[in-house]
Amino acid sequence: MSKLDWKVLFPYELVEPNWRFYSFIAILAVGFWALMAFPVAQFAGYIDPFYSPTVLIVPLPGAFRLTCYAYRKDYHRHLFKHPLGCANPDRGDSAKRRYTGERSAVFQLENLHRYFLYAGIAILPFFYYDFFHSLVYSGPFILRIGSLVLLANALLLTAWTLSCHAFRHVIGGNVDCYSCVAAGGVRKQVYDRQSWLNAHHEALAWVSLLAIIFTDLYIRAIAAGIPMDFTLLRF
Ligand code: FES
Repeated sequence: MSKLDWKVLFPYELVEPNWRFYSFIAILAVGFWALMAFPVAQFAGYIDPFYSPTVLIVPLPGAFRLTCYAYRKDYHRHLFKHPLGCANPDRGDSAKRRYTGERSAVFQLENLHRYFLYAGIAILPFFYYDFFHSLVYSGPFILRIGSLVLLANALLLTAWTLSCHAFRHVIGGNVDCYSCVAAGGVRKQVYDRQSWLNAHHEALAWVSLLAIIFTDLYIRAIAAGIPMDFTLLRF
């Protein structure tokens, strides 16, 4: 039997080998397949994060995520291979592809990220509502593993959203002198805390993406009858 040539099946050489890029593609593919193959908006009191608050508004938070700096860095460097990096003397320019700063259409679209941020913030309360709903949906208070999954998802989404670079600017990036503005001390404290979170933004972007997909798959798994949603507390 002839040996399978993986390079024919998947042209690795077209993109720079990078485990994060391949993981990203794999996660997206699996998540999309699961979403499309078995639509489960709600099961046993759990509301699927892809349908919360409604699947109709998914494009806005989707645009928020797609234009996130963490992913931009990866798809520009490893998928488009241009520009390779701001500080990189070789940006991957060619006669056909010149770096024109932030003036190209792609960059201008990506710069809408600062506005998509508000959509990202606006949907956060819904994820906490979903957690609360899973606790009381049947009347008595009941805490199951799935509720903890929903809570972890909500917390990670919150951490990722609030660590956004655009949010950092909203909080204090536009201020030169904190002591000169009203509530300057409080604002500086919030800015410093957010700066700490911001330093972990890239990791939060990936972990929160995994959390959404995991939550979605968890709900699908119990809807499919896999016995894993144990009750921890009931009263
Ligand atoms: Fe990643 Fe704003 S930069 S969410």
